[in-house]
Amino acid sequence: MLFNLLFPTSGKEVRTIIGQRVSLRPLERGDLATSIKWLNDAEIMRLLGRRHQLSMAEEEQWYEDYLKSGKSRIFAIEEGGSHIGNIGLHKIDNENRSASLGIVIGEKDRWGKGHGSDALVTVLRYAFRELGLHKVSLRVFQGNDRAISSYKRCGFKQEGVMREQVFKDGKFHNLFAMSILDREFDELHGKESKGI
Ligand SMILES: CC(C)(COP(=O)(O)OP(=O)(O)OC[C@H]1O[C@@H](n2cnc3c(N)ncnc32)[C@H](O)[C@@H]1OP(=O)(O)O)[C@@H](O)C(=O)NCCC(=O)NCCS
Repeated sequence: MLFNLLFPTSGKEVRTIIGQRVSLRPLERGDLATSIKWLNDAEIMRLLGRRHQLSMAEEEQWYEDYLKSGKSRIFAIEEGGSHIGNIGLHKIDNENRSASLGIVIGEKDRWGKGHGSDALVTVLRYAFRELGLHKVSLRVFQGNDRAISSYKRCGFKQEGVMREQVFKDGKFHNLFAMSILDREFDELHGKESKGI
C-alpha cells in the first residue's frame, strides 16, 4: 500500500517506502509517545548508550528541532501496519554526500526476525538512490552482536575501533565505527531502484 505523505523537514513529498518485510513512513508527532516508551526501556537504553530517561516535553522539543534543522530524515518502521521501531539518517551533509544512521526496533518481541536488516536496506536504498549520498556511517558498542550482525549483513564494513570511548556502568567501552559506500551497496543489493 502506498500513501502520499509530506516529509516534514523538507516539504518534499515522500511516499511510504516499501521494503521486503517492513515499510517506512516519515515519523509524525503522534509517534512520539510510543518512541519515548522504547527509548526509556532499560535494555534499549543500555544498547544505545543513553544515560537519562526522556520526558515527553524533551521528546517534543527534540521533534521540533528535528523539523527545523532539515538535516535528518526519520522514519517510523511498520510491520503489517504496526509501528515497531524508528530509523533515521542524521547529519545529512550535502557537500560530502554523507550521513549517519540510527535504528531502534522498539518492540523487543520483533528482534531477530529480519525486520531491522530490511529497514536498513530500505533506508540505504533511499539514502543512495533518492538523496544521492555517497557514504552512510554509524557507531555501535562492541558486544551489541545482534546489531553488528545486522549491519554486516546489509554491507556495512568496520572502519575502526574507537577505543574506550564511552564510560558507562563503571567501565570504559569500545565503539566500532562502521560505514557503507554507495558502490558497495550497489554491488550487494543490485543497481536498480526498487521499492521506493
Ligand atoms: C539492532 C536491531 C535494529 C537489529 O534489528 P533485528 O530485526 O533485531 O535484526 P535482524 O533480525 O535483521 O538481524 C539480526 C542479526 O543478528 C543475529 N542475531 C539474532 N539474535 C542474536 C543474538 N541474541 N545475539 C547475536 N546475534 C543475534 C541474527 O542471526 C541476524 O544475523 P544474520 O543476518 O547474520 O543471521 C534491533 O535488534 C534493535 O533495535 N536493537 C536494540 C537497539 C539497538 O541496538 N540499536 C542499534 C544501536 S547501534
